[in-house]
Amino acid sequence: PTITYTDADGQTRDVQATPGDSVMETAVRNGVPGIVAECGGSLSCATCHVFVDEEDLATLPPVSDMEDEMLYGTAVDREDTSRLSCQIRVVDGQDLHVTTPATQV
Ligand code: FES
Repeated sequence: PTITYTDADGQTRDVQATPGDSVMETAVRNGVPGIVAECGGSLSCATCHVFVDEEDLATLPPVSDMEDEMLYGTAVDREDTSRLSCQIRVVDGQDLHVTTPATQV
């Protein structure tokens, strides 16, 4: 599947993702800027914050209590479409569109 990352300036990057990887791992491996992921995906940093396209958001598994708690610690304030990208798994046949915030720290 293709993950489309849009940065805060509106520039988009399409990345071919591997099912089972997270949206965070896909970004880091492909040099997509705007996702810091300080904790490496262990749900303790909130520097992998993204805004998910509303249509895509509806297809994702719900936010866990821990992710919800961490989303209060993002550098740019959370919105209804906020997720932590280390908690979003790439699924075969499911393209995703996310926007990275202006800053993660
Ligand atoms: Fe740290 Fe997602 S990478 S919470």
